[in-house]
Amino acid sequence: MKPLDRRQWLKTAGLTGAFSLLGGVKAIADTAPSSEIPAATVQNGRIRLSSNENPFGPSPKVREAIVNTFDLACRYTYGHEKKLKAMIAEREGLTPDHIVITGGSREGLNVTGLTYGLHNREIIAPDPTYQGLLRYANEFGAYIHRVPLTEELGHDLTGMEQRITSKTGLMFICNPNNPTGTLIPFDQLKDFVESVSKRTVVFLDEAYYDYIEADDYPSGSVFVKAGHNVIVSRTFSKVYGMAGIRIGYLMTRPDIAARLSKRLMANTNMLALYAAETAYQEKDFYKYSLQKNKESKEIIYAGLEDLNLAYHKSHTNFVFFKTGREIQGLIEEMLKHNIQIGRPFPPLTDWCRISTGTIEHTKQFVAAIKKVMA
Ligand SMILES: Cc1ncc(COP(=O)(O)O)c(C=O)c1O
Repeated sequence: MKPLDRRQWLKTAGLTGAFSLLGGVKAIADTAPSSEIPAATVQNGRIRLSSNENPFGPSPKVREAIVNTFDLACRYTYGHEKKLKAMIAEREGLTPDHIVITGGSREGLNVTGLTYGLHNREIIAPDPTYQGLLRYANEFGAYIHRVPLTEELGHDLTGMEQRITSKTGLMFICNPNNPTGTLIPFDQLKDFVESVSKRTVVFLDEAYYDYIEADDYPSGSVFVKAGHNVIVSRTFSKVYGMAGIRIGYLMTRPDIAARLSKRLMANTNMLALYAAETAYQEKDFYKYSLQKNKESKEIIYAGLEDLNLAYHKSHTNFVFFKTGREIQGLIEEMLKHNIQIGRPFPPLTDWCRISTGTIEHTKQFVAAIKKVMA
């Protein structure tokens, strides 16, 4: 097919046809809970509950937006970020110059780790937590101070603040935290951010913000709006189910935003931008994702209670539970049931992180863990 014909065809053909031409776009699975929202198929014969993805995404409207954006895919993205930035800024009470669009939030994490970790500076972080920013900064010479979580698996905010020295370049907070799913009470976070941001930059990784199960929990953008030395990251990978499309964003003071923007390496792309615009405005799929996530978590909780295994109520799309046995062996045994669970999170290697999935896949996880732990 000549390029022009192909483009025309994409515009006029039904979406199902377009998806099969594009390849790689998943088919509607038997496990789909609704005729409208397709759910992820099994990958390589395995049910993947290891990477905190949303198996229902991207939504049908987002898929349509991607197909309709192909006409623009020959263009660079210059100027095309404007609308998405404006939409985010409006919802967060900021201005577009506070927003940096990134290739997944991981690019925002990397660029921040690089910027504030260079020249052997120090980064303070909870342990365990999401490693993206920390590992990247460490590659460029930053020293990472890992402050163990409290017994309740929360951030030890006092201990973290005590570690600040003149060499500190960044304070990393993951809220809700990965892998624990725990949330910092907002009044504690506020006191901490207001105090610490006077001494160093505070990074708030809010990849799981949408899943928070506390009413009216404020967005980290309130600190940005107040002019504090704070950077907040968000992603389209989780609740919007777009992990493979790679788009996220940072919210920070305009001077910091301008500095970080200049250092981006991947940036995002045209299809991702228009996909994100659609996803951001679409309420039904957003609510659907949250609802399915809740149902999946309830099934996991019930299974863990049957097994008498300790867990923490989660503010994310995964559950962290105590297996009481080394996780590596459990990973291998679960793979025999074709279920991929989360990796080890030292030092908590007798805990397991399980991502939510379709209802069917979640039930299969519960059935398998009951056999394996018996
Ligand atoms: C806490 C946290 N931050 C950031 C990311 C990176 O996500 P992405 O680059 O897809 O936005 C993840 C991915 O799992 C995560 O768990």
